[in-house]
Amino acid sequence: MSSSVKDKSIGIGVIGTGFMGKAHSIAYSASASVFGTGLRPRLEIVCDLSPERASQRATDLGFSRYSDTWRDVVEDDQVHLVSICTPNDTHAEIAIAALAAGKHVWCEKPMSTTLADSTAMANAAASSAGKTIVGYNYTKNPAVTHARRLIDDGVIGRVSGFFCRYDVDNEADGNRPWSWRMSRAQSGTGSNGDVLSHVISVAHFLTNSSISRVVGDYTIVHKERADSQATGQTKVVDNDDMVAALIHFENGVKGHIGASRVTWGRKCGLRWELHGTEGTIIYDQERLNELKLFTRQDNPATDGFRTILTGPLHEPYAAFLPNGGHSLGYMDVKICELHDLLSAIEAKSQVWPSFSDGLKIERVMDAVDRSAQTNKWVDV
Ligand SMILES: NC(=O)c1ccc[n+]([C@@H]2O[C@H](COP(=O)([O-])OP(=O)(O)OC[C@H]3O[C@@H](n4cnc5c(N)ncnc54)[C@H](O)[C@@H]3O)[C@@H](O)[C@H]2O)c1
Repeated sequence: MSSSVKDKSIGIGVIGTGFMGKAHSIAYSASASVFGTGLRPRLEIVCDLSPERASQRATDLGFSRYSDTWRDVVEDDQVHLVSICTPNDTHAEIAIAALAAGKHVWCEKPMSTTLADSTAMANAAASSAGKTIVGYNYTKNPAVTHARRLIDDGVIGRVSGFFCRYDVDNEADGNRPWSWRMSRAQSGTGSNGDVLSHVISVAHFLTNSSISRVVGDYTIVHKERADSQATGQTKVVDNDDMVAALIHFENGVKGHIGASRVTWGRKCGLRWELHGTEGTIIYDQERLNELKLFTRQDNPATDGFRTILTGPLHEPYAAFLPNGGHSLGYMDVKICELHDLLSAIEAKSQVWPSFSDGLKIERVMDAVDRSAQTNKWVDV
């Protein structure tokens, strides 16, 4: 006997097909196989700036149609969920149009280049039935969600401090040419919006609170970069290569955060520590299957930090692999993020971080930006 499966498909449109467009598309292709149940993504239409690139990427990524105009995606009747994987200055217009057309939206971080645009996006989401999520994937790793459970269970007592740096060497070489990421007009802030935004998402997720007060500082290390479009010419870098801030949270926790895009040797150097009255948890994204834990029950003379290696006991690791030690990677975490969104669409439930939660993150970035200009503490 043969029978057909129940149709739980959801039509997908992806806009922008670089690093993140590929990551989203891989997640859409894999999520039903990994999680077994739930909505099944159907790759409808992909968009990039030229028909040639869009056509090639449709073939590569498994979409049935392509376009060089993002409006074709948000207005497409067969599309229910739109991924926005384009440069930051395009997010707001696309997201607002997609929500107005009744679509769900998975938007890459940061939400936009200005607080005004991010606020407009959150307002559009509030008046739409569409679900929204911002791509803060470093909160979706089973190691990190396990850390949150340990905190909620009181394993490290009352959290007293949050300390996090995220350093990368993407732009460490001063000979690398200028890109849209180094332009306030196209990208907004530099390492603040691009890198520190992830740190703030982790801060909010782990403390279950929001940063309320900051004092920030910026450095532009490479003030001019070669213009790849004009031999011998340079272009000005007008946003931050490095950012640092002291922070206060609404719940009384204090800490400090920092980010850099010009740190040689750091590849995905997102490292955080949570200090509590009963213990400490440490994490390093370059070893994303491990957590380090020390509690007051440990013998300071004989015990050091113990390593918790993530495995099937740390949900949703078991959806991917039956045994520990095989390890998840970045793309797997992107699948976890998508699963959260698809589950919320199916169950009509909340998902974190929605555009409303993302706006709280943007407000912190904006406060750091204002503080770095004025050298003063700023309320978020
Ligand atoms: N969550 C993460 O870990 C993470 C990592 C990297 C980038 N990002 C974010 O993802 C977004 C994209 O970054 P990326 O690294 O993929 O960039 P990318 O340069 O690799 O890709 C961007 C793509 O968008 C296309 N594009 C530009 N304007 C477009 C338009 N108007 N319509 C259709 N296509 C357009 C480009 O041709 C390119 O293919 C950014 O917001 C970035 O901050 C998030």
